[in-house]
Amino acid sequence: MILLSSCKKTEIGKCDDLQSLYSFSDFPIGFAIDMNELNNDSHYYEIAVSQFNSVTPGNIFKPYYLHPAESYFDWFEADRLVEFCQNNNKRLHGHTLIWHNQLPDWIMNFQGSQSEWELMFKEHIQTICLHFKGKVKSWDVVNEAINDNGTLRNTIWKQKIGNSYIEKAFRYAHEADPDAFLFYNDYDIALNETKRKAILSLLNNLRQRGVTVHGIGMQMHISVVHPENHQIAAALKELSENDFKIHLSEVDISLNPLSREFELTEELLERQANKLAAITLLYKEIPSRYQYGITFWGVSDRNSWIREHFNRDDYPLLFDDNYNPKPVYCKFKETL
Ligand code: G3I
Repeated sequence: MILLSSCKKTEIGKCDDLQSLYSFSDFPIGFAIDMNELNNDSHYYEIAVSQFNSVTPGNIFKPYYLHPAESYFDWFEADRLVEFCQNNNKRLHGHTLIWHNQLPDWIMNFQGSQSEWELMFKEHIQTICLHFKGKVKSWDVVNEAINDNGTLRNTIWKQKIGNSYIEKAFRYAHEADPDAFLFYNDYDIALNETKRKAILSLLNNLRQRGVTVHGIGMQMHISVVHPENHQIAAALKELSENDFKIHLSEVDISLNPLSREFELTEELLERQANKLAAITLLYKEIPSRYQYGITFWGVSDRNSWIREHFNRDDYPLLFDDNYNPKPVYCKFKETL
């Protein structure tokens, strides 16, 4: 076994993607999938199938797409994704059951008492969990519920159901699919210690009350500058010591975090490669039972959310605009 894996590593002579990333790794390597790209771009499809063994839907499991009307769930694209994962032997991680963004108008405008909101919330969660039972391995049950200052974000769910909505979400999800791994997912967990402590305190408190929470998704929308490696190390240590599985759930590494006039240089690409390598080494140090996997928030720079969202030039992913592997891809493979 040891011989085999060291053999695989010495086979990397140049930066190519002939061998899958996941074959070099003891934990799953995933990506956020875009079904339009998968259906319409053969380069994308080829990389999706060959490189990764875990998949997170980037958008289509969010309520806006999956639950567009109160009494209607649109399973079409989601079921195609399930089929893709089954046919190609990919783990499917569900993202996300409860979030304050990408909600359909009918939820935003829902009129009802607190108990009617709670019933709607429960049906939303449980209908989805039951539909995908046995097909989705794990869920981001609640996404981004904590503010940067550690307080509870004032989401529509908090306003209508109360602070206990997080506890209820985890209870309902577990009741519907007791075999699924349940995660809380958020950003800046490494960068912001206050936020991290608040998340840990919230989740530890839930556990003390008998709620099942298996893990924490550290999104890792980061840059070559921040967070610093020692901050990432501290976060990994603290979360694993608190007995949470850790999913590096939405990794991308910005080269242009301040949205400046920008020139792509070899030096920046190397810094990006070194950053991911450092993170990977740190991640490999935590006990394997806590390594839920490393998931990238996209495949190629051309379809990263960052360019569109911030309207800036940036190159945050493993593959370049022509789907060629970047230095960050190669160094990652060597480090796995
Ligand atoms: O579906 C419409 C489409 O009909 C329309 O033609 C098109 C025009 O721009 O917009 C489409 O919706 C966009 C959607 O992505 C699908 O492409 C939305 O405008 C756009 O806002 C939305 O962005 C998504 C973003 O979440 C929403 O906040 C990104 O793709 C998605 O990558 C991003 O993912 C989030 C995670 O879920 C949570 N963590 C942060 C992460 C990055 O923001």
